[in-house]
Amino acid sequence: MPAQIKDKRPPASATDTAVTPRIEHRSLEAVFGITNPKAKDIKIPINVAPGRYCPRFDPFYEWQEDLLRQMMLWVNGVGGKNFLLHGPSGAGKSSAFQELAARTGREMFMGTMHARFEWSELVGQNRLAEGSTKFVYGPLPMAMKTGGILLIDEVNFTPAGQIGALNKILDGGPLEIPETGEFIEPHPEFRVAATANALARDDDAVHYRGTQTMNLAFLQRFNGARVDYLSNTAETAMLHRALPKLPGKVITAMVQVADDVRKAFVAGDTETTMGTRVLRRWGEVMLARLGPLIANTEAEMAWALQFVLTNLTKRVDEEACLGVLRRIAAGMVLPKS
Ligand SMILES: Nc1ncnc2c1ncn2[C@@H]1O[C@H](COP(=O)(O)OP(=O)(O)OP(=O)(O)O)[C@@H](O)[C@H]1O
Ligand SMILES: [Mg+2]
Repeated sequence: MPAQIKDKRPPASATDTAVTPRIEHRSLEAVFGITNPKAKDIKIPINVAPGRYCPRFDPFYEWQEDLLRQMMLWVNGVGGKNFLLHGPSGAGKSSAFQELAARTGREMFMGTMHARFEWSELVGQNRLAEGSTKFVYGPLPMAMKTGGILLIDEVNFTPAGQIGALNKILDGGPLEIPETGEFIEPHPEFRVAATANALARDDDAVHYRGTQTMNLAFLQRFNGARVDYLSNTAETAMLHRALPKLPGKVITAMVQVADDVRKAFVAGDTETTMGTRVLRRWGEVMLARLGPLIANTEAEMAWALQFVLTNLTKRVDEEACLGVLRRIAAGMVLPKS
């Protein structure tokens, strides 16, 4: 890296080690907003004095109870410390980990796999700063030292040559950093999280280019769960909470459109799907243009859908999505100018 470009990442320093947590016990209901009556009685420990790498939480994240149950086992280290979530784009995989970290006061460090991934992207490397060379730790040693979560996104892209080194970490082994001469033993709270859209070159993978069938020995070091989109009821409730000023009919229509587009995607009728990510953005754009939305709901919904999704899809997929919207709007008696 040229010396004049400042590296904004924090240098290796005292903050790379675990900060003493301050533990309080709160109910599952209070921490995750779960409505199940039993959630009031179950208390979990949370760190109320989190370190600087604890993510911010999203108050509108809607938990799928079964997923949360599995994630609680994982953070408690029951049956293993590595957990992989897979499922369609925008279903809430990365954000589930982020939310869990944010709400329980854990620190989180991220790495993303890709075909040309190099080990130094996880471990760190020497950097020149103000005339001297310093080793800047990557997300892996940071998480191992602080007892945080290492999130490996798009884990199915891990190149075969890097799997052996990662397996050692997944087995609970130490990390050797030749540049600093360190052997880092994992903090007992260190956890590995991973996400993928598809695990194999099967039906799912057709839609996610570059997906490779994952190495079985690697895969079996994880516990796992499939994350599907929220049910229509849960997604509707979440949109009402996140965007309370959006007319109820519009939210109902949005969720139906998303549901139909997802079904068409799974059936192979379009190459475009519509994750919760896009749905929320669609709602935000319409909310910002509430006047035109109320004046001519269907046209404004179509305009906003193009803005957040279909301007970047193939024409034929755009026509399919807009066709779904037209059909649903026609059956809903939305206001027209
Ligand atoms: N359960 C949910 N409740 C509320 N919002 C959600 C939920 N799931 C996803 N979202 C919204 O979608 C966005 C994207 O979610 P996330 O990044 O977790 O998707 P992903 O499954 O990791 O997708 P990708 O495979 O494309 O990485 C979130 O930032 C949030 O705005
Ligand atoms: Mg993701």
